[in-house]
Amino acid sequence: MNSKKLAAEKAVEFIEDGMTVGLGTGSTAYWAIQKIGERIKEGLSIQAAASSVGSEDLAKQLGIPLIPLANLDLIDITIDGADEVDNNLNLIKGGGGALLREKIIASNSKKFIVIIDESKQVDQLGRFRLSVEIVPFASNLTINKLRELECDPQVRSLNNKPYITDNGNLIIDCDFGKIPNPEALNGQINLIPGVVENGLFIQMASLVVVGFNDGAVKAY
Ligand code: 5RP
Repeated sequence: MNSKKLAAEKAVEFIEDGMTVGLGTGSTAYWAIQKIGERIKEGLSIQAAASSVGSEDLAKQLGIPLIPLANLDLIDITIDGADEVDNNLNLIKGGGGALLREKIIASNSKKFIVIIDESKQVDQLGRFRLSVEIVPFASNLTINKLRELECDPQVRSLNNKPYITDNGNLIIDCDFGKIPNPEALNGQINLIPGVVENGLFIQMASLVVVGFNDGAVKAY
């Protein structure tokens, strides 16, 4: 049973004609975009905004009408995955490197639905390294400041080269261990000059849809 697909397809049921829809990024959001593509073929009329070049390419292939982020005022509903979700609806996102656009889209959405499989549920955030997007031109200085927050910062790489985001920036994956106060850490990180954004999404989710390996789907 594909638990990511189950959660994604449940979330897509919330989309109605005329809506502006934010498209997430990652292997769970992939299934949501596929389902939206199917519904478009059945006559659903929406416009969508993508949180990454990858999701934009997928949406184009599926015939989903797209609107550039720069032309948006408000998004009705955004459906996106997460790396971790705690009991207070705080998230870690950014495993796919799209956290900046994802956070902008989520924070400008009337409804932000998070789709996960059961493995992403945690009591306290911090098992997954926290992604921090930084400008590249002063990377050592910014990484030093992140280290002062007592994490172990690692420059994300891809094919033995630094990974570059869709926005031309670096991702620093930071191991903070357990994060007892995600809201405070979010503020501390974003105050560092050179940090563009981090992957802590503090109480932004309207609904979390969880797919389970036994085929169950739960929303809360
Ligand atoms: C991308 C993300 C993804 O939503 C997150 O990494 C979860 O990915 P997946 O659905 O593939 O497990 O934040 O930046």
